[in-house]
Amino acid sequence: MGWNSWNFFACNINETVIRETDDCWSYVKRGNKDQLLPDPKTFPSGIKALADYVHGKGLKLGIYSDAGIFTCQVRPGSLYHENDDAALFASWGVDYLKYDNCYNLGIRPQKRYPPMRDALNSTGRQIFYSLCEWGQDDPALWAGKVGNSWRTTDDITDTWKSMTDIADKNIKWASYAGPGGWNDPDMLEVGNGGMTFAEYRSHFSIWALMKAPLLIGCDVRNMTSEMMKILSNKEVIQVNQDPLGVQGRKILGEGNYGCREVWAGPLSGNRLAVALWNRCSETANITMKLPAVGLDESAAYSVRDLWKHETLSENVVGTFGAQVDVHDTKMYIFSPAISVTSI
Ligand code: GLA
Ligand code: GLA
Repeated sequence: MGWNSWNFFACNINETVIRETDDCWSYVKRGNKDQLLPDPKTFPSGIKALADYVHGKGLKLGIYSDAGIFTCQVRPGSLYHENDDAALFASWGVDYLKYDNCYNLGIRPQKRYPPMRDALNSTGRQIFYSLCEWGQDDPALWAGKVGNSWRTTDDITDTWKSMTDIADKNIKWASYAGPGGWNDPDMLEVGNGGMTFAEYRSHFSIWALMKAPLLIGCDVRNMTSEMMKILSNKEVIQVNQDPLGVQGRKILGEGNYGCREVWAGPLSGNRLAVALWNRCSETANITMKLPAVGLDESAAYSVRDLWKHETLSENVVGTFGAQVDVHDTKMYIFSPAISVTSI
């Protein structure tokens, strides 16, 4: 979990406004020893000083580079400089590397990404390795041995269409995700203004349920209290961080269900996270039979509403449903109810 400057700031970053970096932190040219240099205009104190500052706040620092000869914004890339650049990042105290895919000379990602893995490992510093290969060559099939997360799709944009398309595409790879290696459907757009409150709530709920890396992508200095409420919902974040680490997915949403979708995924402690996602253009009633999401037909469940922060019932049996606003999501945890006779 964290924050990434790209979705909101793009290249307009500097050391005073940001606490983590994406593309554009480095100077346009390498130094005379071929080393990467922070941009002297925007990062005059250097990255080590920024890392020290960030660590002092109890946070970790991420940096960005590219498995090509340039980054996407045409700063120097790390292809063929893996060892030097990894050593430099480690010496600065970097904890996370996002590694992009531009200017890759047409070389397959399976060839370009492992050298940086080996280089990072040889530094002896623990650095989370985030592959940003845009889903090229079905990364779920090979990236588990290379990095800690891999992008499953193209870049997200701040629109309902982009967000829903990406959510759907990310499902295919659910069984490849787990502790140590995650499908990455890209960073959050919550708070950037292109979607409604309901749509952002769905975005956050579904990304949490899919065990996506939760990287805030808005200007956190200027977000509304509504957006803050979404991004800081601890019960939803706990679903994302559940130790079982199983990616939830769409269970119902075809045939009679259509745009009334039910997403679910198992949690530790024999619990189940369920999201009722209304993708129709009007308010909808979304109802499911409990066995459809893998629950017992005759058992009783306690149901917790993660957005209301309320336990709705201790005794749900057979079916469950709710009315959901346009494009909104209701999210729950189902736990086996404690039976009255056992008390
Ligand atoms: C690519 C990545 C984005 C972002 C930009 C920066 O498009 O996929 O996430 O890092 O580059 O240039
Ligand atoms: C399937 C997928 C798993 C997980 C479960 C959830 O088995 O392959 O990754 O998502 O469904 O029920």
